[in-house]
Amino acid sequence: MKIYFVNGSPRKKWNTGTVLKKAAEGAASQGAETELVNLYDLKYKGCVSCFACKMIGGKFHGKCAQKDDLTPILEKLSAADGIVFGTPIYFYNITSGMQAFLERFFFPYDLYSREIVSGYTQKIPSGFIYTMNMSAESMHKAGIDTNVKAGQLFAEEILGMKPEVLYVNNTYQFSNYSKYESSKFSETEKAVYKQAQFPIDCQKAFEMGQKIAEKNLREK
Ligand SMILES: Cc1cc2nc3c(=O)[nH]c(=O)nc-3n(C[C@H](O)[C@H](O)[C@H](O)COP(=O)(O)O)c2cc1C
Repeated sequence: MKIYFVNGSPRKKWNTGTVLKKAAEGAASQGAETELVNLYDLKYKGCVSCFACKMIGGKFHGKCAQKDDLTPILEKLSAADGIVFGTPIYFYNITSGMQAFLERFFFPYDLYSREIVSGYTQKIPSGFIYTMNMSAESMHKAGIDTNVKAGQLFAEEILGMKPEVLYVNNTYQFSNYSKYESSKFSETEKAVYKQAQFPIDCQKAFEMGQKIAEKNLREK
Protein backbone atom coordinates (compact mmCIF):
# COMPACT_ATOMS: atom_id res chain seq x y z
CA MET A 1 0.00 0.00 0.00
CA LYS A 2 1.55 3.29 -1.12
CA ILE A 3 0.21 6.59 0.17
CA TYR A 4 1.40 9.97 -1.12
CA PHE A 5 1.60 13.26 0.80
CA VAL A 6 1.61 16.31 -1.44
CA ASN A 7 2.94 19.51 0.11
CA GLY A 8 1.66 22.73 -1.45
CA SER A 9 3.76 24.98 0.80
CA PRO A 10 7.01 26.57 -0.39
CA ARG A 11 8.31 26.15 3.18
CA LYS A 12 9.00 22.44 3.30
CA LYS A 13 9.42 22.03 7.06
CA TRP A 14 6.95 24.55 8.40
CA ASN A 15 3.33 24.14 9.48
CA THR A 16 2.01 22.27 6.44
CA GLY A 17 5.14 20.12 6.12
CA THR A 18 4.98 19.24 9.83
CA VAL A 19 1.33 18.16 9.83
CA LEU A 20 1.80 16.23 6.59
CA LYS A 21 4.75 14.40 8.15
CA LYS A 22 2.48 13.45 11.08
CA ALA A 23 -0.18 12.19 8.64
CA ALA A 24 2.52 10.11 6.92
CA GLU A 25 3.57 8.66 10.29
CA GLY A 26 -0.07 7.72 10.94
CA ALA A 27 -0.32 5.95 7.60
CA ALA A 28 3.03 4.20 8.18
CA SER A 29 1.76 2.97 11.58
CA GLN A 30 -0.85 0.99 9.62
CA GLY A 31 1.79 -0.57 7.38
CA ALA A 32 1.63 1.90 4.47
CA GLU A 33 4.66 2.88 2.44
CA THR A 34 4.70 6.69 2.27
CA GLU A 35 6.18 9.27 -0.07
CA LEU A 36 6.28 13.03 0.33
CA VAL A 37 6.06 15.24 -2.75
CA ASN A 38 7.20 18.85 -2.30
CA LEU A 39 5.49 20.75 -5.10
CA TYR A 40 7.69 23.82 -4.73
CA ASP A 41 10.79 21.74 -5.60
CA LEU A 42 9.26 21.17 -9.05
CA LYS A 43 8.97 23.36 -12.14
CA TYR A 44 5.53 23.01 -13.69
CA LYS A 45 2.51 24.95 -14.88
CA GLY A 46 -1.20 24.48 -14.39
CA CYS A 47 -3.49 23.12 -17.11
CA VAL A 48 -2.97 24.91 -20.47
CA SER A 49 -6.35 23.81 -21.84
CA CYS A 50 -4.90 21.82 -24.76
CA PHE A 51 -7.67 19.20 -24.32
CA ALA A 52 -5.32 16.40 -25.46
CA CYS A 53 -6.66 14.49 -22.42
CA LYS A 54 -10.17 14.55 -23.92
CA MET A 55 -9.29 13.69 -27.53
CA ILE A 56 -11.11 10.50 -28.60
CA GLY A 57 -8.55 7.89 -29.63
CA GLY A 58 -5.75 10.34 -28.84
CA LYS A 59 -2.38 9.30 -27.41
CA PHE A 60 -3.04 11.28 -24.24
CA HIS A 61 -6.70 10.39 -23.70
CA GLY A 62 -7.23 10.41 -19.91
CA LYS A 63 -3.66 11.67 -19.34
CA CYS A 64 -1.95 15.03 -19.13
CA ALA A 65 0.05 15.79 -22.28
CA GLN A 66 2.21 18.54 -20.72
CA LYS A 67 5.78 17.41 -20.11
CA ASP A 68 7.56 18.92 -17.12
CA ASP A 69 8.65 18.04 -13.57
CA LEU A 70 5.07 17.07 -12.68
CA THR A 71 4.91 14.35 -15.35
CA PRO A 72 6.67 11.59 -13.32
CA ILE A 73 4.69 12.57 -10.22
CA LEU A 74 1.35 12.27 -12.06
CA GLU A 75 2.51 8.88 -13.34
CA LYS A 76 3.19 7.70 -9.77
CA LEU A 77 -0.09 9.11 -8.48
CA SER A 78 -2.00 7.16 -11.13
CA ALA A 79 -1.21 4.05 -9.08
CA ALA A 80 -1.60 5.54 -5.57
CA ASP A 81 -3.46 3.76 -2.79
CA GLY A 82 -4.19 7.02 -1.00
CA ILE A 83 -3.27 10.71 -1.23
CA VAL A 84 -3.14 13.50 1.34
CA PHE A 85 -3.02 17.04 -0.06
CA GLY A 86 -1.60 19.68 2.29
CA THR A 87 -1.62 23.40 1.58
CA PRO A 88 -1.33 26.71 3.37
CA ILE A 89 -4.11 29.22 2.74
CA TYR A 90 -2.96 32.16 0.61
CA PHE A 91 -5.43 34.95 -0.10
CA TYR A 92 -8.32 32.91 1.35
CA ASN A 93 -7.62 29.90 -0.87
CA ILE A 94 -5.20 27.06 -1.61
CA THR A 95 -1.73 28.09 -2.86
CA SER A 96 -1.20 28.66 -6.59
CA GLY A 97 1.19 25.70 -6.60
CA MET A 98 -1.50 23.39 -5.20
CA GLN A 99 -4.15 24.82 -7.55
CA ALA A 100 -1.93 24.26 -10.62
CA PHE A 101 -1.15 20.74 -9.41
CA LEU A 102 -4.83 19.85 -8.84
CA GLU A 103 -5.74 21.06 -12.35
CA ARG A 104 -3.07 18.83 -13.86
CA PHE A 105 -3.92 15.84 -11.66
CA PHE A 106 -7.73 15.84 -11.71
CA PHE A 107 -8.69 17.30 -15.09
CA PRO A 108 -7.39 14.45 -17.32
CA TYR A 109 -9.45 11.97 -15.25
CA ASP A 110 -12.58 14.10 -15.67
CA LEU A 111 -13.46 12.40 -18.95
CA TYR A 112 -16.46 14.55 -19.92
CA SER A 113 -18.27 11.27 -20.54
CA ARG A 114 -21.92 10.61 -19.71
CA GLU A 115 -21.12 6.97 -18.96
CA ILE A 116 -17.77 7.14 -17.15
CA VAL A 117 -17.56 9.58 -14.25
CA SER A 118 -13.84 9.13 -13.63
CA GLY A 119 -10.88 7.90 -15.64
CA TYR A 120 -8.99 7.11 -12.43
CA THR A 121 -8.89 3.33 -12.40
CA GLN A 122 -9.13 2.62 -8.66
CA LYS A 123 -11.19 3.95 -5.75
CA ILE A 124 -8.83 5.48 -3.21
CA PRO A 125 -9.15 7.43 0.06
CA SER A 126 -7.78 10.97 0.27
CA GLY A 127 -7.47 13.86 2.67
CA PHE A 128 -7.01 17.62 2.60
CA ILE A 129 -5.09 19.53 5.25
CA TYR A 130 -5.22 23.33 5.25
CA THR A 131 -3.00 25.47 7.47
CA MET A 132 -3.64 29.17 7.98
CA ASN A 133 -3.03 32.19 10.15
CA MET A 134 -6.73 32.85 10.76
CA SER A 135 -8.70 31.42 13.67
CA ALA A 136 -11.46 28.90 12.93
CA GLU A 137 -14.05 31.64 13.52
CA SER A 138 -12.43 34.10 11.05
CA MET A 139 -11.97 31.26 8.55
CA HIS A 140 -15.74 30.55 8.56
CA LYS A 141 -16.57 34.27 8.39
CA ALA A 142 -14.23 34.78 5.42
CA GLY A 143 -15.67 31.72 3.68
CA ILE A 144 -12.32 29.96 3.31
CA ASP A 145 -13.88 26.57 4.05
CA THR A 146 -16.27 27.23 1.14
CA ASN A 147 -13.51 28.52 -1.19
CA VAL A 148 -11.49 25.32 -0.83
CA LYS A 149 -14.42 22.95 -1.52
CA ALA A 150 -13.71 22.51 -5.26
CA GLY A 151 -10.62 20.37 -4.62
CA GLN A 152 -12.60 18.16 -2.23
CA LEU A 153 -15.48 17.78 -4.70
CA PHE A 154 -13.11 16.77 -7.50
CA ALA A 155 -11.34 14.33 -5.17
CA GLU A 156 -14.68 12.70 -4.32
CA GLU A 157 -15.72 12.46 -7.95
CA ILE A 158 -12.39 11.41 -9.46
CA LEU A 159 -10.99 9.23 -6.66
CA GLY A 160 -14.40 7.81 -5.79
CA MET A 161 -14.46 8.45 -2.04
CA LYS A 162 -15.32 11.48 0.12
CA PRO A 163 -12.04 12.99 1.39
CA GLU A 164 -11.09 13.57 5.01
CA VAL A 165 -10.62 17.26 5.89
CA LEU A 166 -8.52 18.99 8.56
CA TYR A 167 -8.20 22.73 9.16
CA VAL A 168 -5.16 23.88 11.15
CA ASN A 169 -5.84 27.41 12.34
CA ASN A 170 -3.90 30.22 13.97
CA THR A 171 -0.50 28.93 12.81
CA TYR A 172 2.81 30.55 13.64
CA GLN A 173 4.03 32.50 10.59
CA PHE A 174 7.59 33.38 11.66
CA SER A 175 10.10 31.79 13.99
CA ASN A 176 10.67 35.17 15.65
CA TYR A 177 7.82 37.70 15.56
CA SER A 178 10.02 40.54 16.85
CA LYS A 179 12.03 40.51 13.60
CA TYR A 180 9.04 41.19 11.35
CA GLU A 181 6.29 43.79 11.15
CA SER A 182 3.44 41.93 12.78
CA SER A 183 1.77 44.39 15.14
CA LYS A 184 -1.62 43.10 13.91
CA PHE A 185 -0.97 39.89 15.85
CA SER A 186 -0.16 39.14 19.45
CA GLU A 187 2.83 36.82 19.54
CA THR A 188 2.00 35.91 23.15
CA GLU A 189 -1.51 34.78 22.19
CA LYS A 190 -0.11 32.93 19.17
CA ALA A 191 2.47 31.16 21.35
CA VAL A 192 -0.15 30.09 23.90
CA TYR A 193 -2.42 28.78 21.14
CA LYS A 194 0.47 27.05 19.37
CA GLN A 195 1.57 25.28 22.53
CA ALA A 196 -1.95 24.10 23.35
CA GLN A 197 -3.41 23.44 19.90
CA PHE A 198 -0.64 22.53 17.45
CA PRO A 199 0.14 19.16 19.13
CA ILE A 200 -3.62 18.38 18.96
CA ASP A 201 -3.66 19.25 15.24
CA CYS A 202 -0.59 17.06 14.68
CA GLN A 203 -2.40 14.21 16.44
CA LYS A 204 -5.48 14.78 14.23
CA ALA A 205 -3.21 14.65 11.16
CA PHE A 206 -1.69 11.39 12.45
CA GLU A 207 -5.20 9.96 12.86
CA MET A 208 -6.13 11.12 9.34
CA GLY A 209 -3.12 9.21 8.00
CA GLN A 210 -4.17 6.13 9.97
CA LYS A 211 -7.75 6.39 8.75
CA ILE A 212 -6.74 6.74 5.11
CA ALA A 213 -4.56 3.63 5.34
CA GLU A 214 -7.39 1.73 7.09
CA LYS A 215 -9.96 2.85 4.49
CA ASN A 216 -7.66 1.63 1.74
CA LEU A 217 -7.36 -1.78 3.39
CA ARG A 218 -11.17 -1.99 3.63
CA GLU A 219 -11.55 -1.13 -0.08
CA LYS A 220 -9.34 -4.08 -1.06
C1 LIG B 1 1.13 35.12 0.34
C2 LIG B 1 0.47 34.69 1.63
C3 LIG B 1 -0.90 34.83 1.76
C4 LIG B 1 -1.54 34.40 2.94
N1 LIG B 1 -2.91 34.53 3.03
C5 LIG B 1 -3.54 34.07 4.13
C6 LIG B 1 -4.97 34.15 4.23
O1 LIG B 1 -5.66 34.61 3.34
N2 LIG B 1 -5.55 33.67 5.36
C7 LIG B 1 -4.83 33.12 6.38
O2 LIG B 1 -5.41 32.69 7.38
N3 LIG B 1 -3.47 33.02 6.31
C8 LIG B 1 -2.82 33.48 5.21
N4 LIG B 1 -1.45 33.36 5.12
C9 LIG B 1 -0.71 32.66 6.22
C10 LIG B 1 -0.44 31.19 5.93
O3 LIG B 1 -1.58 30.55 5.41
C11 LIG B 1 -0.03 30.42 7.19
O4 LIG B 1 1.04 31.06 7.81
C12 LIG B 1 0.30 28.99 6.84
O5 LIG B 1 0.24 28.18 7.99
C13 LIG B 1 1.67 28.87 6.19
O6 LIG B 1 1.98 27.52 5.95
P1 LIG B 1 3.51 27.03 6.04
O7 LIG B 1 3.98 27.32 7.43
O8 LIG B 1 3.46 25.58 5.73
O9 LIG B 1 4.28 27.80 5.01
C14 LIG B 1 -0.78 33.81 3.99
C15 LIG B 1 0.62 33.69 3.83
C16 LIG B 1 1.25 34.13 2.68
C17 LIG B 1 2.75 33.96 2.56
